[in-house]
Amino acid sequence: MAIVVKRGNSIFVEGPARIEIKEGTGIVFGREVYPGDTIVVKRAKAVGIAALDRDLTVDIVSGVEPRYEIIEGSLFPDDWFHAADVISELEKPAIVAVLGDVDTGKSTLVTFLANILFKRGFKVAIVDEDVGQSDIGPPCVIGLSFMDRQIFFLEELEFYDGYFVGSITPSGLLQRSIVGVRLLLDRALEEGAEVILINTTGWVYGRGARELKTLILRVLRVNCIIAIEKSRELEHLIAPFRRSGTLRILRVTSPPRIRERDRVDRKFLRETSFEKYLRDAKEVKLKLDDVGIVYGFLGTGRPATPEELSLIEKIVGVKVEYAEISRDAVVVITAERVKVDALMVSALKLHFNCQDVRVVHYGDFKGTLVGLSSSDGRFLGLGIISQFNPKSRELTILTPVKAEDIAIIEYGCVKVSPEGKEERIFHPWSV
Ligand SMILES: Nc1ncnc2c1ncn2[C@@H]1O[C@H](COP(=O)(O)OP(=O)(O)OP(=O)(O)O)[C@@H](O)[C@H]1O
Ligand SMILES: [Mg+2]
Repeated sequence: MAIVVKRGNSIFVEGPARIEIKEGTGIVFGREVYPGDTIVVKRAKAVGIAALDRDLTVDIVSGVEPRYEIIEGSLFPDDWFHAADVISELEKPAIVAVLGDVDTGKSTLVTFLANILFKRGFKVAIVDEDVGQSDIGPPCVIGLSFMDRQIFFLEELEFYDGYFVGSITPSGLLQRSIVGVRLLLDRALEEGAEVILINTTGWVYGRGARELKTLILRVLRVNCIIAIEKSRELEHLIAPFRRSGTLRILRVTSPPRIRERDRVDRKFLRETSFEKYLRDAKEVKLKLDDVGIVYGFLGTGRPATPEELSLIEKIVGVKVEYAEISRDAVVVITAERVKVDALMVSALKLHFNCQDVRVVHYGDFKGTLVGLSSSDGRFLGLGIISQFNPKSRELTILTPVKAEDIAIIEYGCVKVSPEGKEERIFHPWSV
């Protein structure tokens, strides 16, 4: 289906769609497109093409009725171009944080700036702090990529490094997010990045969000904040930095069209990403004694003695498959489901003189998302626990990472099926 977009106007196309440029030139998120170029737009995403200096003819090939709209004028606000000019002039390395509410175009603005700055010859890195709607790397991970060509979507870039946060939201996990972005910024600087664009989560309201954003801006020592707004809704985040002499604050407008995403769309995009990530995964077996454990208790203590086990069984009232004791915690793995009550927990705390007690059913491990790191703490990839064998103290993990590389297992707070379906979200430190 061929469509003509008049010079100076734009076309907004919703996925799933495949767009072929037939005649004229256009600009897509800061990247110029020419006849012969093809843009593939996924379900729950959209793309905007502005006709530059002459009429543009595009062909939309789509399995369903193509959904598009002709927009008068450009889909890319003038202040976006101005922001690219400001960043070009900043002292290098320029550390630029893009802030915005959900569905305001943050990822698109980052793509736009990255395309323009790359074309101007800067070494551009992108740190994607968003763990829910990750553009770089799988969900639950903060990602780092470098621009090596112009792109339509950030996910086209090669994943360079990551930091496992463990959930689809940084809420309740602020420290991990802050440490993660800082470490990846350091990696980008070590590699000589001149412009580092930080794509942030759309979590901008409430105490947790305010604290996270303030700390990220401080710990990264950003040179420039780009606040993308519909109606000055980010004032509370920007105000504390207004009088900083070293920090440029730019307020830019949200584009006239956005493909908004509801919870279903967001879950669909995450599950697509998990599924793709796990496609070549295999089961690996890891002995708890051979690895380090982070963000959880299981695997950090010594197995209970037979006497301790029978005492624990008396307290919890069901058969116990395995129990482990460390100085600050007791982990009990039961063969049957049991209702954990306050009395049971205080009896275990009292007896073992510890702060934390976890009573977990044997089957509850299945599906737990884990991050896998090398001995120097470098992110290697994700996995999901298939099974815990209490006798051999061994975890079976479905992952594309090679067993011999794994030195550290980091427990996450999401359950994912081998097909990538998101099954449940739970509290950190549940195991
Ligand atoms: N200027 C634009 N022209 C056309 N489409 C756009 C434009 N800006 C954003 N979109 C589309 O709207 C959708 C949402 O934009 P984007 O992903 O940039 O928002 P976001 O603020 O990063 O969202 P989230 O809060 O989920 O991270 C995307 O599919 C994107 O391609
Ligand atoms: Mg985004």
